[in-house]
Amino acid sequence: MTGRARTTGGDGAGIPGPWRRLRASRAASWTPAHLADLTGRTVVVTGSSRGIGAAAAVHLARHGAHVIILCPSASQGRASAEAVRRRVTAARVESVTCDLARPDQVREAAGEITRLVGGRLDVLINNAGVAALPYTRSPAGFEMHFAVNHLGHFALTGHLLPALLSAPRPRVVNVTSVLHWLGRCRTDRPHLPRRYHRWPAYFDSKLANLLFTHGLTVWAQARGVPLRAVAAHPGLVDTTLGSRALYADGRRLEARLLRWGQSRWHSPSQAAWSLVRAAGDPHVAGGEFFGPGGRWEWSGAPVRVRAARRARDDRAAERLWQLSQRLTGHPFPASPGWPGRGGEPS
Ligand SMILES: NC(=O)c1ccc[n+]([C@@H]2O[C@H](COP(=O)([O-])OP(=O)(O)OC[C@H]3O[C@@H](n4cnc5c(N)ncnc54)[C@H](OP(=O)(O)O)[C@@H]3O)[C@@H](O)[C@H]2O)c1
Repeated sequence: MTGRARTTGGDGAGIPGPWRRLRASRAASWTPAHLADLTGRTVVVTGSSRGIGAAAAVHLARHGAHVIILCPSASQGRASAEAVRRRVTAARVESVTCDLARPDQVREAAGEITRLVGGRLDVLINNAGVAALPYTRSPAGFEMHFAVNHLGHFALTGHLLPALLSAPRPRVVNVTSVLHWLGRCRTDRPHLPRRYHRWPAYFDSKLANLLFTHGLTVWAQARGVPLRAVAAHPGLVDTTLGSRALYADGRRLEARLLRWGQSRWHSPSQAAWSLVRAAGDPHVAGGEFFGPGGRWEWSGAPVRVRAARRARDDRAAERLWQLSQRLTGHPFPASPGWPGRGGEPS
């Protein structure tokens, strides 16, 4: 993950180039109106049956992209595609059913997507997420936040590589959270955390999204392919992420507090701007990270933001990469490339 720092006032004279560019990106309020025409480009958005993903699908379709909605329910996927068509006349949008916690469905979905896009995928937005679940194991036996938020997306990206690498400037956008700052890389216990708590499990999975972005950037550079891995976070958003699980678990007060906090900040439509910028801004480089530019990065127009130091840790990214490869059946071709080491063990 490329480290990015905040800048302050002044006219920028005498400031080194990268800092000046960073400040310019913060100063100019980016909106989806800045997006170029995406006609002819194919974009998959996971978790786009509701919330931020559904809003991102609308923005992208409005700019001409061929959008594939991916979500666990076939009927919900069809309804979401229809909702996009109602809002964007002549939108090209389809849906693919996939539960990211089920490795067999991830593999099948990648095959179906590859067919739908004619073998060439320009952008994959790994947005789907779960939060605040009580301890639950995925059908493959992994802790559910890790399974859906990270492992499912890792495997989907690996299975879609041939389609991504057939595009001229492919991009993978991993959606994380400002709460990744509280996460830890716990590659020693993906099955059964010793002391489970629903929120740290979510924070850890959001840190994993950034470590994967870092790992994928190293992987692409080592192989000399033009794939750009980018991260984005939406701020604090008015969706039911987290509160659904809390209500279902009878934690009504915690659920209400969360809903109150989320509803005070970003709408899903504005929160999706970070994702859309990471996916469509031609000036974005591999390893960059976008989030809202307002106070505490909770709301505002998308700007380059800084990731926690541990999200840029080579060793943690390498450990997570190797573990994820092993747990998902090696969807990425074995690859050398970790600086200063002999590459990925088989
Ligand atoms: N809301 C916030 O304040 C906030 C803050 C920071 C980061 N984020 C991040 O933003 C992303 C989107 O969150 P959101 O707020 O839009 O959440 P949301 O409204 O709950 O939507 C989550 C989406 O993920 C899908 N999903 C859940 N489990 C899945 C699975 N096993 N397989 C495939 N898809 C699955 C859901 O599909 P179904 O509903 O059909 O099951 C839904 O489409 C997440 O990565 C989240 O971590 C959100």
